[in-house]
Amino acid sequence: MARIIGALASSHIPSLGTALSAGRQQEPCCKPFFDGCLPVLRWLEEEQPDVAVVLYNDHGLNFFLDNLPTFAVGAATEYGCLDEGWGKPALPPFNGYPELSWHLIDSLVEQEFDIAMCQQLAVDHAFINPLRLFWPGENPPAIRTVPVAINTVQFPLPRPARCYALGKAIGKAVADWPTDEKVVVIGSGGLSHQLDGERAGLINKAFDEMCMEALLHDPAKLARLSSRDLLREAGAQGAELIMWLAARGALHGTVSKIHSSYHIPIANTSAGLLALANR
Ligand code: DHB
Ligand code: FE
Repeated sequence: MARIIGALASSHIPSLGTALSAGRQQEPCCKPFFDGCLPVLRWLEEEQPDVAVVLYNDHGLNFFLDNLPTFAVGAATEYGCLDEGWGKPALPPFNGYPELSWHLIDSLVEQEFDIAMCQQLAVDHAFINPLRLFWPGENPPAIRTVPVAINTVQFPLPRPARCYALGKAIGKAVADWPTDEKVVVIGSGGLSHQLDGERAGLINKAFDEMCMEALLHDPAKLARLSSRDLLREAGAQGAELIMWLAARGALHGTVSKIHSSYHIPIANTSAGLLALANR
């Protein structure tokens, strides 16, 4: 049976993707963030996972307000990059894994998550940046991917408890997948940030630190938050934290911390990284 070896949760700040492309990782603004990834890169080098299930939020590019699923699973052979307004990224498409995608879809529907199924899906920085961060120098990363998109664009958002439960259902689906593959779950988004409106620039370090601690020891505490709690404490886009909670939900063994880092400010967002092993 396939095995989830851990979860990697990371912010997906677009300017960090740009910094990566330009080789500016050592500049003062970016260095603490990229240095914070090094222990994770070493862990990945040792573990060599076969598949990444990527929990991310589309930013109104593949899905828009006219057609916005709460949960969507990609089932394509590859996932191309979207033009986010500054030109189509010069990146090849990411590798899919349709067989596992369909297994996940079957299992999730069986577990009463009536997700949207996408045989065509293009991805934005939320999917792209963590993969480029964790598999630098691979273009595209060799790892096969299954994208799982969670709505954070249009209210009502799925409740944190529901996202945590989705993660648990993904964990069960992977455990039932009859191969000996190693699977890593990625949660992309957060931490606290608000990009527009009266509270633009909001960062809540105390809340971020509480979340990182709770994700390790007491994720159910975060699952008790409401969407409004998240909005109030973490800002409008800080609601992306539900991706971290969903990724944590997929870990069903003994969970331990591999590494974490936290750095502000880059752009308008606190940049966090949390890597958890699942044994
Ligand atoms: C930023 C952060 C995001 O999560 C995002 O989707 C877009 C921009 C930022 O910090 O600039
Ligand atoms: Fe975002």
